[in-house]
Amino acid sequence: MTLHIAEMLRAQKRHISFHTPGHKRAGADITELPYSDCLVSPKGVLAAAERDVARILGAARSFLLTDGSTCGVFSMVDAMRAGGVKKLAVPAFSHPSVLHACGALGVEIVPVVQETVRGIPVQPSAEAMKTALDGADALLLTSPDYYGFFALLEEARRLCDEQKKPLAVDGAHGSHLHFTEHYAGKYADLWVDGVHKSLPALTQGAVVSANATWADALQSSVVKFRTTSPSYPIMASVEYAVKFPRNEEIELAAEEAKRDMGAENNADWTKILVPFADTGAAERFLEERGVYPEFNDGNYLMFYLSPCTKARELKKLVRLAKDLPRAEVAEDAPVGAIPMYGEV
Ligand SMILES: Cc1ncc(COP(=O)(O)O)c(C=O)c1O
Repeated sequence: MTLHIAEMLRAQKRHISFHTPGHKRAGADITELPYSDCLVSPKGVLAAAERDVARILGAARSFLLTDGSTCGVFSMVDAMRAGGVKKLAVPAFSHPSVLHACGALGVEIVPVVQETVRGIPVQPSAEAMKTALDGADALLLTSPDYYGFFALLEEARRLCDEQKKPLAVDGAHGSHLHFTEHYAGKYADLWVDGVHKSLPALTQGAVVSANATWADALQSSVVKFRTTSPSYPIMASVEYAVKFPRNEEIELAAEEAKRDMGAENNADWTKILVPFADTGAAERFLEERGVYPEFNDGNYLMFYLSPCTKARELKKLVRLAKDLPRAEVAEDAPVGAIPMYGEV
């Protein structure tokens, strides 16, 4: 598959820079020039890349983001606000960007009740979604969540269709799912893909997409939150990541590792969630051996995988974790603390 942005960067000729960035070096970190296109109104390589990304993700339009999923969340909330959404149903455990977007844009949050079990927020039930949606104009779910569980997307789609209200999905942790029926884009009107988290994009690389109904509104909104100095290395990496092939070998190895490590039986292969007896001691033991997890919330260590995870590194993790004592987290244990996370 053609990598439009990377190939443009590779084909660059040396030139004298009387333009930003200030380092004045040749290389991939260029700005918007006649041959490199312009992200606000793309007509060249960026348009080709966005078209390919939209086709792969099943969107009417997709927008490359170099400002993380946060920018995508703000864009979705703003597009819905412009479309008349005043109250947004949001599960209690959502990322702060959802809270901040609603606060900044004057959209009222209607909380969707989420139970917690053994220190893990449970994705909202159909009843909880309906109760909140009855008093709101739209629904914004997170799927998968940070703990590797999928929202009830089919039910959410049905509910939103019944009430003729839009469904948005924060898929900051789910861009690797576009090969599967669990993918947010199969159900949502607007959705975010955090390609830098579970696909091989540079940090901050993300995509926000919409179906035909919401594409124009999203386009008007995204320009308000995106930087006007987009990073070409990040944009090239986003295109590369979305076009990255599925790695079923590591998906199977991850499921096996979960069984071997006594991990939680979550749905998402990229998130291995292990309840160690002493998460602090387990984290230190692993770090001393050069192994770093994604988070330690006091109940669980979570190990984040991607199609680029190496089988031998996963085996090393399983081997090291074997001798670390596990624990049962109590049914009523509160959700642990993850920096920058909390209840909306
Ligand atoms: C569920 C969720 N949504 C949105 C974000 C924001 O993503 P980013 O850090 O790419 O801006 C995060 C980041 O951790 C997240 O976990």
